Formats: sequence, C-alpha cells, structure tokens
Amino acid sequence: NWTMENFIEKEITRIRELVGPTAEVIGAVSGGVDSTVASKLMTEAIGDRFHAILVDNGVLRLNEAATVKKTLVDGLGINLTVIDASEEFLTKLKGVTDPEKKRKIIGNTFIHVFEREAENIKPKDGQEIQYLLQGTLYPDVIESISFKGPSQTIKTHHNVGGLLEDMKLKLIEPLRELFKDEVRHLGELLGISHELVWRHPFPGPGIAIRVLGEVTKSQVEIARKADYIYIEEIRKAGLYDKISQAFACLLPVKSVGVMGDQRTYEQVIALRAIETTDFMTADWYPFEHSFLKNVASRIVNEVDGVARVTYDITSKPPATVEWE
Ligand code: XMP
Repeated sequence: NWTMENFIEKEITRIRELVGPTAEVIGAVSGGVDSTVASKLMTEAIGDRFHAILVDNGVLRLNEAATVKKTLVDGLGINLTVIDASEEFLTKLKGVTDPEKKRKIIGNTFIHVFEREAENIKPKDGQEIQYLLQGTLYPDVIESISFKGPSQTIKTHHNVGGLLEDMKLKLIEPLRELFKDEVRHLGELLGISHELVWRHPFPGPGIAIRVLGEVTKSQVEIARKADYIYIEEIRKAGLYDKISQAFACLLPVKSVGVMGDQRTYEQVIALRAIETTDFMTADWYPFEHSFLKNVASRIVNEVDGVARVTYDITSKPPATVEWE
C-alpha cells in the first residue's frame, strides 16, 4: 500500500540507483517548499554529492538569502552555495519597465548565472556534475503535456527547462508524481519546519514584478521592507495560514502626506492578500480594519519613501494576483 513513509524509502533507493556511487547532482533552491523538499530528499539519498545553489538575484525578500542559508545548511544539513548575483541582475534590469521583459531578463540571467556556477563546482574526485534536480510536481507535468502555446499563458512563468539543453544534464524529478499537499506532507516527514512547509508561493521574478516601473536597488529596498512588516503583522495576528498569498507592491506614483508638521511627497504601497485553492481564481482577504490600520501606520512610519498605503480589493478575475 502507498504511504508517504514508503514513498520516501523507495524514492531514496531509486535516486541512489539512478545516480550510482560516484556521480554528482546539482539543483537550484529558491527558499520555497518544492525545491527545499526535493533538496532534502536528495541530501538524504546522496549527502554532499548533491549541490544546492541559491542565486541571490537582488529581488528576493528581505534577508532571504541569509535566512535560507541558515535553514537549509544549519537546519537541514543541505550542501548549499549562495551566489550573490544581485548586481548583475539589477544592472540588466536597469531602465526596464515592461513586466514581461523583466521576467525574461530574470529568467535568462538566472540560467546564465546557474550554468557559470555549475562550472565552478568541481567535485574532489574530478567527477563531472551529471544530474540536475528539479522540484517539478505532478500538476506541472500535466501542464507541460497539455500546453498548447502562448495564448494559454497569460504571463510567462519562470522555468529552468532551458538549463537542460545547454548543460547536457540528466534530469531528476523526485516530486513528479506528487501534488502540492503531498509535497507538504513529505516535507513535514523529512523534518522541514511548519513555517517553511506552509510558506506562501513567491514568484521567480520576485520583487522585480512588485516594484512597478523601473527596478532599482532603492525601490527594491522600499518594497521589501514594507513587505516584511506586512508579513510580520500577518503572522503575529495568526492569519498567515489562512491566507494563500500576501505581499506588498510599490507603485510608481507619488502622493502628498504629512509627517509631524512637514509636508511629504513620497510613494504609495499597495497591499495584496488573497484566498484561493488553485490561483486561477482568487478572492481578496477580508482583514479587520484595525489590522489594516496598524500595518499602514507601521509602514508609513518605518519605511522611508512611503507616504500612503492602500489595500487591493480586487478579485481574480478580473485582476491577477500579481500587479504585473
Ligand atoms: P497571477 O498574477 O498570474 O498569479 O494571477 C498566479 C500565481 O502565479 C504566481 N506568478 C508567478 N510565479 N513566475 C512565477 O514563478 C512568474 O513570473 C509569476 N507570475 C505570477 C503568482 O505569485 C501567483 O501565485
């Protein structure tokens, strides 16, 4: 009979047989559930012959690279290298305002940086990296089989499929038979924290599509600080697990405000929180007014560059989850 405990045991055996006694495996991690669970499973199977790479693209959440490192290396014993490529990404994003262009630049730069890093990993015994780990889930498998062309994707979702062709690596996808809730269950059995296992999804292009307009270091800084405060308050209020996804967006408009007896003229933050089962349709989350009041006041007081906070009360459809 099929149980998750049996699945773990069988999958570890399958990975060991597939990879053999000497080959090395590389895989990208994002700090999200899927890549963390896949990496942990790989580490259980082949230890340090699995090399996880986190590319810091400069548009991750506040303190994200350091947090992921702590969780994966100290907490889960995963052999992780963090690559700080933020300057490279931000340079490429300079002057770009079109959301789809941002996605393409980030996707392509990611592949470039990842490939370069894979070259740098030279295992002790001179073995080449032969396998690429991907955290593909069953719904992704179905989607790619039934995919009929660009008219079906409203936004180009970041995927690293291009890596394979270039790098001549063989693919390992230990989660390809699982649904999301099964991956979460698997993660819990592998000792991954509740907080990580139930983390909201975060888009590949990250804060770049939550800074509307041009993405600069200072704009990213404002957006990620506001987002951090917002998520911190959501957690404090015990609402995190009730919400499917929440984040702050920085709008490219200025608005007049008053701080003390000074007139200010700064930007606007839009908060978004949604409830959904499949992300194809979504409802905005009905926060208590006192909650919103507190978050708005913290953001304006604690984040330089923000004069006003709004709450997005649009469902999907007609709005998408992300603003770009
Ligand atoms: P939308 O905005 O299309 O979002 O309603 C639905 C879900 O997809 C996520 N999303 C992305 N994820 N790369 C990603 O990896 C992307 O370019 C991207 N765009 C949207 C979004 O966060 C939500 O969970």
